[in-house]
Amino acid sequence: MKYDFETVMKRYGCGSRKWDEMRDYGYSEADDIIPFSVADMEFAPAPEIVRGLQDFISCSVLGYAGPTDEFRLTVCDWVEKRHGYRPKEEWILTAHGVVDAFFEAVQTFTKEGDGVLLLTPVYYPMYHAILDNGRKLVDCPLVRKGTRYEIDFDDFEAKIKDENTKMFILCSPHNPTSRIWTPKELRRMAEICLENDVLVVADEIHYDLEMPGQIHTVYPSMGEDIANNCIWCIAPSKTFNLAGLQTAIVMIPDPDKRAQYLDAQKHHNPSPKCNILGYEACQIAMKNCEEWLNQVIEVVAENKRVIEAFFAKEFPEIQIMDFEATYLLWMDWSGLGIEAKELERINREEAGLFFDEGYIFGEQGNCFERWNLACPTWCIEEALERMKKAYAPYLKR
Ligand SMILES: Cc1ncc(COP(=O)(O)O)c(C=O)c1O
Repeated sequence: MKYDFETVMKRYGCGSRKWDEMRDYGYSEADDIIPFSVADMEFAPAPEIVRGLQDFISCSVLGYAGPTDEFRLTVCDWVEKRHGYRPKEEWILTAHGVVDAFFEAVQTFTKEGDGVLLLTPVYYPMYHAILDNGRKLVDCPLVRKGTRYEIDFDDFEAKIKDENTKMFILCSPHNPTSRIWTPKELRRMAEICLENDVLVVADEIHYDLEMPGQIHTVYPSMGEDIANNCIWCIAPSKTFNLAGLQTAIVMIPDPDKRAQYLDAQKHHNPSPKCNILGYEACQIAMKNCEEWLNQVIEVVAENKRVIEAFFAKEFPEIQIMDFEATYLLWMDWSGLGIEAKELERINREEAGLFFDEGYIFGEQGNCFERWNLACPTWCIEEALERMKKAYAPYLKR
């Protein structure tokens, strides 16, 4: 490997949400719990980003900033290179994060009491965007077929046709199931929404993290009408591990919707522009760091293989769901016959492992764990050994 994916930096007590969150649960550094939870990577930024930012700071005024023509061009070049589809530069707005963007979309394009559909289980802040804004959650549960999740299109269509449903927040690729929706599935969802005048917010923050052999289809690439009916959210934050720089991209192809969103964004947040270093890091990464990303994907794929092989031997009761994209592995632990809260306790207190508990993504996530694989393989191996030891007394074999 050209890059260092072995070193782990100290993040405890350094303001990392993933590491410091454990304090909220009463654990300290001395408890030696490894977090595999919040979706950022344990890897340092690509050296090209570090050097590029150093150069930039040494000859810049760090004043207020906004997206430049070069930023827009770079983003469009990247999307075209990686996904074979060229968006238009004028569609680009920015936000402090994709979560901010879908909150803003809910507030701008729906009113209190309107229905917003989610394919569940799903990334939990999407529930908040709906419920905390007084909108109605329209729950369309995914159907599990073995180790794969599918959409129940009869249910989807019936719920989209409900005259109260005004918006669909699509998570694509889907967190936590890691599904890459096929072009056929995407087209069907898009057409049903278009026919029923339901606006689609496509959260594609994980779009660059396709596992080997998988191809993600970007939502607006499916046609002009479909593009004009969407708010498309992407970011460099998952792809290049830049979440702390808080720079996300909101593309709105339809000019009226774009103007409406921009107006609302200014109203809710008088300073929606992002961090000057975020814009710069995004450009450096998209121009120079594709190889770094490809190597991260290799490490993540290897980590999944290591877990799979270990589970096949030591924990055949745990089922790993098909892993198509993201760096978040979705696993069904119900076969161990231990209830969810007890699994959580054993993992944290006896194994010293902190996963994202499945139930936070919705009811269907009960007894699931979401394992963040963006870390050195040796951390995964250490975790597996800890698991083996901790679960030995609980396994009746
Ligand atoms: C599907 C999805 N959307 C959005 C986010 C967070 O986006 P941001 O940090 O840009 O607000 C995450 C982070 O895990 C995510 O998984």
